[in-house]
Amino acid sequence: MTSPPPVGLARGLTQYGDADFSLYLRRTFAKQAGWSTEMLQRPVVGIAQSASGFNPCHRNSPELVEAIKRGVIAAGGLPLDFPTISLGESFLSPTSMKYRNLMSIDIEEMVRAQPMDAVVLLGGCDKSVPAQLMGAASADVPAVQLVVGPMLPMPYQGERLGACTDCRRFWGRYRAGQISAAGIEQVEGQLAVTAGTCGVMGTASTMAAIAETLGMSLPGTAAIPAVHADRLRAAEASGRQAVALALRPIRPSQIITPEAVDNALRVLLAIGGSTNALIHLTAIAGRRGIPVSLQRLNALSDSTPVLVDLKPTGQHYMSDLFAAGGMGAVLRELAPLLHLDCMTVTGETLGQRLAAADAAGGDMAGKAPWVDRAVVRPLDAPVTPQGGLVALFGTLAPNGAILKRSAADPALFERTGRAVVFTSLADLAARIDSPDLDVTPDDFLVLQNAGPTSDAAMPEAGYLPIPAKLAQAGVKDMVRISDARMSGTAYGTVVLHVSPEAAAGGPLGLVRHGDRIRLSVQQRRLDLLVDEAELAARRAALPPPPAVPPRGYQRLYQTQTLQAEHGCDFDFLRAAPLRPDTP
Ligand code: FES
Repeated sequence: MTSPPPVGLARGLTQYGDADFSLYLRRTFAKQAGWSTEMLQRPVVGIAQSASGFNPCHRNSPELVEAIKRGVIAAGGLPLDFPTISLGESFLSPTSMKYRNLMSIDIEEMVRAQPMDAVVLLGGCDKSVPAQLMGAASADVPAVQLVVGPMLPMPYQGERLGACTDCRRFWGRYRAGQISAAGIEQVEGQLAVTAGTCGVMGTASTMAAIAETLGMSLPGTAAIPAVHADRLRAAEASGRQAVALALRPIRPSQIITPEAVDNALRVLLAIGGSTNALIHLTAIAGRRGIPVSLQRLNALSDSTPVLVDLKPTGQHYMSDLFAAGGMGAVLRELAPLLHLDCMTVTGETLGQRLAAADAAGGDMAGKAPWVDRAVVRPLDAPVTPQGGLVALFGTLAPNGAILKRSAADPALFERTGRAVVFTSLADLAARIDSPDLDVTPDDFLVLQNAGPTSDAAMPEAGYLPIPAKLAQAGVKDMVRISDARMSGTAYGTVVLHVSPEAAAGGPLGLVRHGDRIRLSVQQRRLDLLVDEAELAARRAALPPPPAVPPRGYQRLYQTQTLQAEHGCDFDFLRAAPLRPDTP
């Protein structure tokens, strides 16, 4: 008869060549923290927390950690929090994206190396939740995702302001000369005023919604504002649930399945979610060997209506979604399109979870919970009949590119334009506002060398500014094409993630000023109208690629990062069956 696997502090002992000594020594140092013998015999719940002075979005983390601990102790567990890398979106250079995979390694290895039976992952700011889910998916220790929650918008001169769609809106007005320097400074102080993540359907909110859809978070928790008391109750409940998972493990591998990923793709489309989230979901799924193809995205996009009316594509904020019924309202509406038999961290299937919410929230007449239909539309009267994202393919993007059509101007969807090319971010910054720039509103702005393995490390620079002289003339949108990403809070007719990227030898790097490019959203095409002989000549004239960095994380990043269609994960971190050649 085999003995049961060790639990709690007896898991994964430090190697001294004497297991009993290892456990004795571990308890000795655990007692140094003041825990009683009784507490040290409990199952251990780790709390991966990412508070940092460089991450104001996470400034409510300490009180959430305390609430998680309360839940763990109440349910009979021992809570032990530990710090991890924290990714504050606007504090990292060149981009937080460059460090997402590093944080995922931190999570995976610390969850695996430290003795915990389950873990609560506490994060929120853009890349944190993807990194945590990637790490948890690889470590495959029972895990509950808890997000710090979205910020509240703030009234300002008769309207509401919230990061960061309004950041861009006001900056655009400032660039167009409609707001003074003093005015924009005043706005700067009102855009992000509470703890929490950007309060629109940006990347953080999208990833929170995806975590809940995947079944990795407790139901109804994605949209609770960071400063709402329900957020603390969600933390306590997450701690309790982690103890339940410690006693009866349900692992990420049982939750993050092909069907659950399909559900998450549906939801990404239905909420008008961030383009970044597609990269992150692909990376998370890749950790479990699950492919996410852009062809599948297009198939789902055609049959998934946009139901949620949130900025940047709509009118409302995350706090409105919370008040409107939260992600439960969205998921119940989408239920006919979802795989309802997917397992979740509560031990219920998605279908059971939604049915339970119906029963709990229904009135005496047995009606479904109240939903504000201005924010969450019914399936038969959606915001738009088709999904928010669409993948494009063609001679300019052989492996794909992404357009957030829900945030774009349909008048620009079927056209051929002249390329106005910027060869780098530095070139863009130097020339975009030049009065001498040769550009018209009908041109296509093209940015090269801003992809995953470029020096820029795929920044959120795909939302190229409208050249100053056009902005001042009232031009609000133009076709913009790059291998970069775009903030989930941005909007415009912006083609992103062109693959292969210019720095990897993709055709995007061969575009020259004055070339013709054809965009057809209807046909899902993006083509460079230059003949092959000319492209071959240009390719032969390209300078040699820059030297690979000699050491450290820079070298690892440069040599291992995959293209956007593979989630920009490191090659060696993906699950074995899926290598870079996976479609
Ligand atoms: Fe942290 Fe937007 S800056 S979520």
